Parts: sequence; structure tokens; C-alpha cells
Amino acid sequence: MNNGLADKVALVTGGGRGIGAAVALRLAEDGADVAFTFQQNRRRADEVVDQIKTAGRRAIAIQADSADPAAVAAAVDRASGELGRLDILVNNAGAFLLGPIEQLSLAEFEQTVAVNVRAPFVASQAVVRHMPAGGRIINIGSNVAERAVFPGFSLYAMSKTALTGLTKALGRELGGRAITVNLVNPGPTDTELNPADGPNAAAINGFTALGHYASPADVAATVAFLAGPGGSYITGATVNVDGGFTI
Ligand SMILES: NC(=O)c1ccc[n+]([C@@H]2O[C@H](COP(=O)([O-])OP(=O)(O)OC[C@H]3O[C@@H](n4cnc5c(N)ncnc54)[C@H](OP(=O)(O)O)[C@@H]3O)[C@@H](O)[C@H]2O)c1
Repeated sequence: MNNGLADKVALVTGGGRGIGAAVALRLAEDGADVAFTFQQNRRRADEVVDQIKTAGRRAIAIQADSADPAAVAAAVDRASGELGRLDILVNNAGAFLLGPIEQLSLAEFEQTVAVNVRAPFVASQAVVRHMPAGGRIINIGSNVAERAVFPGFSLYAMSKTALTGLTKALGRELGGRAITVNLVNPGPTDTELNPADGPNAAAINGFTALGHYASPADVAATVAFLAGPGGSYITGATVNVDGGFTI
């Protein structure tokens, strides 16, 4: 175990499965107590709680739909209240709605912007009330914000691109409090959202330089670095963990 996050407390949105679960577990392995949100799959969330506890850290799973701003703010307050402090926020939960622009509905637009843009804003707003010097806000964007190789990504890519502005402007705003804000843009990552054996996987692999998907742990390693002591002088940055998808 790396103890670089000893005595720290983290909140990860969408931590019940996939990248968020890997981030929650890695932060715990590095020494942090971890709260995370999930949408509806309590069984999977409970499994992540058990894994974090096995790593020797405290864990809380909070059912909170990121589309509901009151639930997002309440999750921040509950994590801080129950775990005693809040040093690290990872805005990971995402809505992934694709389609030709003329077929995307306004409801899909509202859902995507609510989860991918408003929730990171609201969580950041709520967390800065609790966050001490040395705090970290890490947003999870997407490679497709920088390189659109397939049609159908207009809404999703637009929403993820908003995180660049949030990351830079908030990094500037919170720098005086020694809080850093960074953006991690995963490339194709093997999760239930985008399985490495899915129908488009071969084509997707071909767009990367490394020729294969990331594991969720690959993305979590970068998040943990930014959250840890090594990330202390990095703020406003975008880190692509995409196997060269965007080069
Ligand atoms: N996988 C990729 O290739 C890839 C690439 C680039 C970027 N990303 C981004 O990485 C992030 C994680 O993706 P993933 O592939 O790990 O997804 P995933 O495997 O589908 O996992 C999603 C997790 O987030 C939770 N979640 C989903 N919608 C939520 C909501 N509205 N409120 C609260 N929690 C919610 C889910 O909860 P339940 O378990 O309760 O359903 C689950 O725990 C997303 O922001 C995604 O856009 C992924």
C-alpha cells in the first residue's frame, strides 16, 4: 500500500462500477477513506464498499442521481459529515447518450448536461465549503472531446468539453487556497459502458497508438497521482489517458 493519501477523505461520483469503482479502490489503497455515489445498483456499490474496507479504509456508498443537483450537494455534505473532512472530489459519473443530432431529444440534452456539466459544477460548489488547503478536484472528461472519430457524439462531446473551461477557471480561482483542479480524459476504457470486446472495439483500438483499451485501473492510477503528493503543482491541466487516441 502507498500511504500518500493517509488521513485524506475522497468523494467519487459514480463509483459503483467501472472507472469510478477503480478510482475509489485505488484511492483507498493509497490510504484515503472514500465515499462514493451510485445511481441505482446497490449490490455493485456494496461490493465496492467491501473492497475498500478490505483495503483497511472507511467507505460509504451514497445513492445520489447526478441529474438531481440537490442530491449531489447532499452527497458532498454527507461524505464530509460522516467521514469528518473532504480533501478529494472526483467528478466521474457520466451520461453517455449518442445519436444523429436530428434524433437527439431535448430530454436527452437536458439529461446529458445535468449529469456531465451541472453535477460537476454543483459538486465543486458544495465541496469548496469543506475543502482544506491541499484539496484536489479531478474531473473525468473524455477523449472524444478532442477527437471525434465516429458520428453521433455531438451531445456527449459537447458536454465533456465544458469540463475544460470549468477545470481551468476553477483552477485559477482556487489556486490561492492551494486547491488544484484537473481534468483526466480517458480514452477507450474497458467498462460496461464501453466493453473491450464490444462490436466497435477493433475499430476503436485502431484509433489508438497503443492498439488496445485501457483498464479502469490505468485511469485510476493517473487520478491517484493527481490526488497525491506528486500532483501538488499541477492545476488547470488536462491529462489524456487515452493510449494515443488524440495524437
Ligand atoms: N469507458 C470509457 O471508454 C470512457 C471513455 C471516456 C470517458 N469515460 C467517462 O468515464 C466516466 C465513467 O465511465 P464508465 O465507463 O466507468 O461508466 P460505467 O461503467 O457505466 O459506470 C458508471 C457508474 O456511474 C454511476 N452512474 C451513472 N450515471 C449516474 C448518475 N446519473 N448519477 C450517479 N451515478 C451514476 C453508475 O451507477 P449504477 O452502478 O448505480 O448504475 C456506475 O456506478 C464517465 O464520465 C464516462 O463518460 C468513459
